[in-house]
Amino acid sequence: MKTSTIYNRLTSLLLLALPLAATAQPRQSMNLKNWQFSRDSISYSAVTIPHDWAINGPFDKKHDLQFVAIEQNGETEKTEKSGRSGALPWIGRGFYKTTVNLKSVPKTAVLEFDGAMADPHVYINGKLAGHWAYGYNAFRVDARPYLKKGKNEISVSLNNREESSRWYPGGGLYRPVALVTTADEAHLNPWGCWFRTESIGDGKAVVSVCSNVECVDKTLAVETQLLGADGKVVAQKRYGDFNAEGNAVFSLDVKDAQLWSPEQPYLYTLVTRLYRNKKVIDETRQKVGIRTVRVAQYDGFQLNGVSRKIKGVCLHHDLGPLGAAVNKAALIRQIRTMKDMGCDAIRTAHNMPSTWQMEVCDSMGMMVMAESFDMWIYPKCKNGYAKDFKQWADRDITNLVLNHRNHPSIVMWSIGNEIPEQWSTEGRDIAAHLQDLCHQLDPTRPVTQGMDRAEDALKSGFAQVMDVPGFNYRVHLYDNNIRQLPKGFLLGSETASTVSSRGVYKFPVEVSNTKTYSDGQCSGYDVEYCSWSNLPDDDWRMQDDRDYTIGEFVWTGYDYLGEPTPYDEYWPSRSSYFGICDLAGLPKDRFWLYRSHWRTDAPTLHVLPHWTWPGREGEITPVYCYTSYPSAELFVNGKSQGRKVKNPATRLDRYRLRWNDVVYEPGEIKVVAYDYDGRAAATETIRTAAQPARIVLKADRATIASKGEDLSFVTVSLVDNDGNPCPAASNNMTFKVTGAGKLRGACNGDATSLVPFCSTSMPLFSGELVVVVEGTAHGSATLSVTADGLPEATQTITVD
Ligand code: GAL
Repeated sequence: MKTSTIYNRLTSLLLLALPLAATAQPRQSMNLKNWQFSRDSISYSAVTIPHDWAINGPFDKKHDLQFVAIEQNGETEKTEKSGRSGALPWIGRGFYKTTVNLKSVPKTAVLEFDGAMADPHVYINGKLAGHWAYGYNAFRVDARPYLKKGKNEISVSLNNREESSRWYPGGGLYRPVALVTTADEAHLNPWGCWFRTESIGDGKAVVSVCSNVECVDKTLAVETQLLGADGKVVAQKRYGDFNAEGNAVFSLDVKDAQLWSPEQPYLYTLVTRLYRNKKVIDETRQKVGIRTVRVAQYDGFQLNGVSRKIKGVCLHHDLGPLGAAVNKAALIRQIRTMKDMGCDAIRTAHNMPSTWQMEVCDSMGMMVMAESFDMWIYPKCKNGYAKDFKQWADRDITNLVLNHRNHPSIVMWSIGNEIPEQWSTEGRDIAAHLQDLCHQLDPTRPVTQGMDRAEDALKSGFAQVMDVPGFNYRVHLYDNNIRQLPKGFLLGSETASTVSSRGVYKFPVEVSNTKTYSDGQCSGYDVEYCSWSNLPDDDWRMQDDRDYTIGEFVWTGYDYLGEPTPYDEYWPSRSSYFGICDLAGLPKDRFWLYRSHWRTDAPTLHVLPHWTWPGREGEITPVYCYTSYPSAELFVNGKSQGRKVKNPATRLDRYRLRWNDVVYEPGEIKVVAYDYDGRAAATETIRTAAQPARIVLKADRATIASKGEDLSFVTVSLVDNDGNPCPAASNNMTFKVTGAGKLRGACNGDATSLVPFCSTSMPLFSGELVVVVEGTAHGSATLSVTADGLPEATQTITVD
């Protein structure tokens, strides 16, 4: 079966498995999808959630315009920062309301929010029923006391403070909301239930299960069944002993245990039934995995007893043109691309992930560092979480762990990112406290955080407290750090921060940590970074040569809205340059650099830059090759430019092959890669393109579901008469979707573009853009794309 077909099926299965869909009686889960929305609490319009009120713009410098010094970046003088949080209208208030019709008042009722941006106050029939401060966290509201028979109005008011975020947070009910009811007062409390792997070995596993029941009495018993992927029961137990907290805790032996890993993400289903005498009064189903996690000196990070160095990326939560509104198809596309690169872990920078994202990671096999905070007491921005930390931090950590602890994908918790107070003993004590809290709620996972001031954190004892000492950047300090760490290992919790723009190449090619250009772009040669950061090659050297490193999380897998470093002061620029892929999800050259090193089961051969440079004839135009092969020979129009061999002795030649003196002439460049036996193993050719002649559309999935906001991501590009891609094209493209789908958004990956994502036309950036089509009904949807002087192109998408 083709990989695309497998992912297509997987996507459909995952979409069908939406957690909030109604489950078997008598527990009912109502997915509250349809709401009325208003910015002024007077005029409302219909929306479906997940919803991000700000993503359609318009972009404007005035939104969250800041006059600040970014201390983390070493700035001491205040300057104007325009696109810092995305230049979109996310600040201010927002109001949502919906109606729920109840035939009778249920015995228990809980409103489950997976997150709401931000400061949600929840009202039921006009009365305040619940409140949460942090926009990223899941929280539950006891709705029962406020409900009545018949129509009930649920409303949520939100408020986003200016200067509260260092990136784009979005605004609104951007994650699902459900009303969960039970028909008996006694019921399972999903956040009290856990599933743990106690031991694995000889094909067997021992797991322990806790079923937490509210309103326990003597007539109750729980039955637990563990189902294999084929639906057959592999272990079960009926149990009637509850402790004072309503916990029934017992263990199960699992024969022929299938272990969860990124390579084989085997999932079991844990079915828990609550009986009153012989009658089932509640039932939950949850996907779980059997796997162990351990970190230790010498063995490093171990999954299922096998040491591995983490090949991770950091991800912010926005989904490019969809904004913060969470979407499973978009998450699946992200993870699929990262896995193709050989990545096996993500860090949910710098906040609690969505449940859907964790489900996708469970199913597709992606390890996760689930993070919580970007600041504690000392503020990084005027109105950030520091205002809430003292009052809310424990509750926030508690909800993070209770909501997510049964996801096998999560392998560690993170209690913070670059917390300014890492130099102080107070900071050390808070770290110890938050880590202890994680341990109490979940003794199975280690706790980490990302530290950017190694010397300070080691001096205060802040670093030594952590189960997993995590250091952001400054790889040159690793050798010094490790001497002060009795644990004997360290994690590159944040690495690289190399900057580039997809398909843009700057000459002369210069390694630099300060470079900016008048067009607001960075060079695609992957040699530019920031004053505090470095190149991928620098991290790999430390990961490959030092036994004490246990892996890394690259900043970042994808570009995100906001933080347009090195253009924090440049307008227009409103999204990042750090991504291995751009904001549209299209790979930059760096994707193949990481792939060539991380992916060990498939070869990589990629050559850059493109070879369409009218006006550069006769000029030096270096050629780089990112490959898993040890050497390659370059030909320009058939003329050899010599054979290059990877050379561990120099900074840029250990992991790349470079021909620095190539003189541009139109035609073709070809690399021939040689394997370790010196045999020609693969070739890659790039040709100079003539004028654009045709529009090419390429859908990531040609069949999508009509439900669950399933999406097809269609890449639009141009080719010349011979089919050569036109790499520098910036033609304006116009799109229309007819039939069983609608246009969900478009993005070209240009950080300086002010064209709204909801626009029906947009220029190509470096020859490409992505149109997102959403399935709305059974049938077929057609995307047609036009551009001046070119024939129209269409892509049909089957909507199942
Ligand atoms: C780190 C920080 C990230 C991001 C990154 C950019 O210091 O943790 O959130 O700002 O720098 O390089």
